[in-house]
Amino acid sequence: MPIVAPSLLASNFLKLQEECTMLNESEAEWFHLDVMDGVFVPNISFGLPVIEQIRTTTKKVCDVHLMIIQPDRYTEAFKKAGADILTVHIEACTHLHRTVQHIKSLGMQAGVSLNPHTPVDSLKDILDDIDVVLLMSVNPGFGGQSFILHTLHKIKELRRMIDERALNTKIEIDGGVTLENAASIVQAGADVLVAGSTVFKSKDPKATISQLKHIA
Ligand code: DX5
Ligand code: ZN
Repeated sequence: MPIVAPSLLASNFLKLQEECTMLNESEAEWFHLDVMDGVFVPNISFGLPVIEQIRTTTKKVCDVHLMIIQPDRYTEAFKKAGADILTVHIEACTHLHRTVQHIKSLGMQAGVSLNPHTPVDSLKDILDDIDVVLLMSVNPGFGGQSFILHTLHKIKELRRMIDERALNTKIEIDGGVTLENAASIVQAGADVLVAGSTVFKSKDPKATISQLKHIA
């Protein structure tokens, strides 16, 4: 069964407490928190003070996805805000190995994210060091976009790399995940499904989370 990680980017920020309570009562294991800087991606979302407050509402895993340039500037700050997993983009890190070691030295799990055009074999010299690979299945910056079908090939290739090395690295898929395509994503080898619009725009978000959890 996949881990379900609802993306709060699609939640109602005026009712954030209620949304968090709903997630706490649901089968979602991770809170997916999207941080955008308006430079790495053409959008600005939310940042440290919001994550700090969300942290006080939940014991579930806070999975922070940084879509920002030079993420090293904020590693400690996100630890303090309560991140359990800190994911950086390979395209935003010149010294990725150093960044990953720093994240882990602070006691967080380290994730590395790939944009749709970035090949999975660019991970071959870092894969053994990381806890999560986040494959973007849309171009990052916005919720509500359509799943890029080519991602299924990337998932299968990455699954092979991870299994060949007998690693526990999790494959997380982010962007355009729906009740229609989730089964094929899990069958391709994904461990974690991020879902924004599918969860928060549905009539019964808790039931939708449960459907995603039991999809395959
Ligand atoms: C996009 C973000 C995603 C986004 C997913 O840049 O990284 O996490 O919130 O939203 P949906 O599930 O609506 O595609
Ligand atoms: Zn994300």
